[in-house]
Amino acid sequence: METLLQQIEKYKTEIKDFVAQKSDEVESFRIKYLGTKGLVKEVMGEMKNVAADKKREFGQLLNEFKLFAEAKYDELKATTGNEQLAMDSSIDLSLPADPLPLGSRHPISLVRNQIVSIFQRLGFAVAEGPEIEDDWHNFTALNLPENHPARDMQDTFYISQNPDWLLRTHTSSVQVREMEKGNLPIRIICPGRVYRNETISARAHCFFHQVEGLYIAENVSFADLKQTLYFFVQEMFGKDVKVRFRPSYFPFTEPSAEMDISCLICGGSGCNVCKKTGWVEILGCGMVHPNLLENCGIDSTKYTGFAFGMGVERITMLKYQIKDLRLFSENDVRFLKQFTSAI
Ligand code: DAH
Repeated sequence: METLLQQIEKYKTEIKDFVAQKSDEVESFRIKYLGTKGLVKEVMGEMKNVAADKKREFGQLLNEFKLFAEAKYDELKATTGNEQLAMDSSIDLSLPADPLPLGSRHPISLVRNQIVSIFQRLGFAVAEGPEIEDDWHNFTALNLPENHPARDMQDTFYISQNPDWLLRTHTSSVQVREMEKGNLPIRIICPGRVYRNETISARAHCFFHQVEGLYIAENVSFADLKQTLYFFVQEMFGKDVKVRFRPSYFPFTEPSAEMDISCLICGGSGCNVCKKTGWVEILGCGMVHPNLLENCGIDSTKYTGFAFGMGVERITMLKYQIKDLRLFSENDVRFLKQFTSAI
């Protein structure tokens, strides 16, 4: 009996002096003392050898021992993690936690979404087409037959496996796809990426983004085109911005025009951005050429329409006064995180 009592006292001292710095040491404590093959179980097993008249007294003692070991285990569990941190002097627990960096939308996406939402309010639906196009949808159906000099206006990436395939040079190809479906009237905008074989510089890139618009119905006039685009400019840039239309040429529209807005930087008095003219061009537009309607099986004596196409990068550069096109594709977070918007 004496030896058992001594044994328990010895274990208690060991338990009292036990220090743990890591959670795996706390776990070894549990296994050693409280586990199924642990010392507490072992001394409990000695009960059978205790004389009957001492059983009650020993029972109590053993129970206390068990509670003592359990209390120490709870204490070790509660303090060990913090002790470990506190002992590591390189960690200052009073410092605020690292902020979680939030992502932001790319400025091109923000502006594209805004353009899309303005036209959606006018009843335009979004239509999309493939970035790898065939010659018909990108050129021929748009009134640019093979060897037409206007094809030289765009330097194109062709797909080597098939001379008929190319990376679309403009979103006007989506117009053709929609007209071919023949569900009239058509009122769509087509946002998307386009490609041109250009040397990359502050003002040109080999890929960029456009939004195309197309409205075809009976009795659509140039006045409808002007008013639609005027509404767009006011929503996009504010009520004070002026617009003007200049005659231009595109093979797919007749008549064709380019639309300028009064320079947002100098307000029209003349600066570097507007090359001292007070105006900046933002899009091309016109009345859909009857040949296009016929190419797509639409009766050009019954239907008329207007179309327009704008570069998203250009609108974004004007809106945020960004001077170098390359910034959009360099993925520099210092640039990208400056743009926030609800859209
Ligand atoms: N596709 C022309 C371009 O990439 C832009 C354009 C001009 C689109 C006039 C049109 C349009 O729909 O009517 O430069």
